[in-house]
Amino acid sequence: MRRAEGDFIGYCGLIIGRSTLDEPEIAYELFRRAHGRGYATEAADAVLGAAEATGRNRLWATVGAGNTASFRVLEKLGFVRDHVSAEDSGEIVWLTRILRS
Ligand SMILES: CC(C)(COP(=O)(O)OP(=O)(O)OC[C@H]1O[C@@H](n2cnc3c(N)ncnc32)[C@H](O)[C@@H]1OP(=O)(O)O)[C@@H](O)C(=O)NCCC(=O)NCCS
Repeated sequence: MRRAEGDFIGYCGLIIGRSTLDEPEIAYELFRRAHGRGYATEAADAVLGAAEATGRNRLWATVGAGNTASFRVLEKLGFVRDHVSAEDSGEIVWLTRILRS
């Protein structure tokens, strides 16, 4: 939700996804009209803080190889590339971020 506009623009949170409950994945998706204004980075940064507060030590993200915007969001938040896996849908890049705790 945006405070001023009061509208729903997408989601950001932790999921097990391809990873585990202890080291979950961060995931986000915004409506196209909300792209390019830093919202995904802002939301993901808040989720990183919340993940730290739960005592978790590490997060993952899995991103389709061509998803430039998502790579940039993760780069801004300090995620680094770890490895690549192959799926029917194409190459998936795994990125990780060590948390402070
Ligand atoms: C990925 C997504 C959430 C990003 O949301 P957003 O709010 O636009 O992201 P931000 O504005 O916080 O940051 C995007 C960054 O990528 C950059 N970017 C976006 N498209 C780009 C492109 N085609 N080439 C290069 N850089 C690009 C922006 O310039 C910005 O970087 P900057 O701050 O250095 O200028 C949004 O594109 C989305 O919902 N995509 C569809 C769902 C999806 O792919 N989810 C992630 C699955 S892993």
